[in-house]
Amino acid sequence: MRTQVGIIGAGPAGLLLSRLLTLQGIDSVVLENRSRSYVEARIRAGILEQHSVDTLTAAGLGDRLHREGLEHRGIYLQYTGTRHKLDFPELCGRTVWVYGQTEVVKDLIAAQLDGGPPLLFEVSDVTPEDVDTDSPRIRFTDADGVPQVLGCDVIAGTDGFHGVSRPVVTERTEGRLWERTYPYAWLGVLADVAPSTDELIYAWHPDGFALHSMRSPSVSRLYLQVDPAEKIEEWSDDRIWTALATRFSLDGWELETGPITEKSVLPMRSFVSAPMRHRRLFLAGDAAHIVPPTGAKGLNLALADVTLLATALVRLLRERQTDLVDDYSDRALARVWRCTHFSWWMTSMLHRSGDDFDAELQLSQLRRVCSSEAAARELAENYTGLPIDD
Ligand code: FAD
Ligand code: DHB
Repeated sequence: MRTQVGIIGAGPAGLLLSRLLTLQGIDSVVLENRSRSYVEARIRAGILEQHSVDTLTAAGLGDRLHREGLEHRGIYLQYTGTRHKLDFPELCGRTVWVYGQTEVVKDLIAAQLDGGPPLLFEVSDVTPEDVDTDSPRIRFTDADGVPQVLGCDVIAGTDGFHGVSRPVVTERTEGRLWERTYPYAWLGVLADVAPSTDELIYAWHPDGFALHSMRSPSVSRLYLQVDPAEKIEEWSDDRIWTALATRFSLDGWELETGPITEKSVLPMRSFVSAPMRHRRLFLAGDAAHIVPPTGAKGLNLALADVTLLATALVRLLRERQTDLVDDYSDRALARVWRCTHFSWWMTSMLHRSGDDFDAELQLSQLRRVCSSEAAARELAENYTGLPIDD
């Protein structure tokens, strides 16, 4: 087997990269170690920045997004009995969209299987080789158990945080890793109940942070700050709804409840690995960086990375020019650190650490964001997404 770009991992990063390359006449093959149904069912992020929507739309993937996605013009910040709306179009002229990562992935897979380049599920033993040369290879075992070798011009490692690509880059470069773990986790639930709010609510509460999001007019997505060691079995549906109602409570407002269809505990960490390239192996998305979920940056950052990478690879493979691939890691990392800062800042402002001095600083910061247009604009610009080339 031979292709121009061998892509490891069929998450949003790998699938969008393959799509963007196809539109520019560059061949690729995507190798995924899970099944199609597993990849399409994984519940993860839900908010798309303006640039993500624009990129998906320009790539011919906007039909269902525009039909079923929900455009949101702001968020509420809630603390000590007040709920304050930040109006994004007024503050920065941009909006965001609620459209689940599962839906983005389904749209990308459908486009790929509809005459797009090969997408192989349930492969195993994936190993990038000869990445120091101009003809790297990926060894793998296909779904029928047959060993295969995929020869490529370039390999894209879009295989997420636990993938095989990052260690290959780290081993061969004088790279650096930065990591911050947080003493919090999110308990996330999906519930068959209409959202009780028009915009997302980010709530500071003495018991801990809570977030009211949604997936559709009839499905709510809600999160509670919990201890990272918390066992999901100890959270009955009743306990979850009671904690959510307490943390969102506001005079004259009520949280509607309904059947919970999915619940899980998500750890929170910041992680950055640099550089994002070694010779012919390029990293993008969670393979190179992780942000805590507060502020909804993870998915958007993965899509932004591959938007940059696709342009750089087209220039390399069609025009034989190396300038953009040489700049890729630095340009991507500038955005990664901006989003890393924003996610850390939102996390630090909203989660209860147990320290009362921290709590007063958080409340002071929340009052500032809700009373100063400049402070609100800073949040709005970051939340709705800075331009890819910023
Ligand atoms: P991934 O989506 O992880 O895709 C990587 C793909 O590579 C996967 O399909 C994996 O199966 C495959 N793979 C791995 N190893 C191999 C291998 N050896 N060979 C072949 N294939 C391989 N972000 C937010 O903004 N908001 C959220 O609410 C949010 N919630 C999240 C909840 C969870 C549980 C997790 C894990 C992440 C969440 N994120 C959230 C982050 C967001 O989902 C990720 O940033 C996003 O999925 C990154 O996309 P990606 O394509 O880089 O990586
Ligand atoms: C969602 C997740 C986030 O991390 C966030 O900040 C907003 C919304 C969500 O899953 O809907």
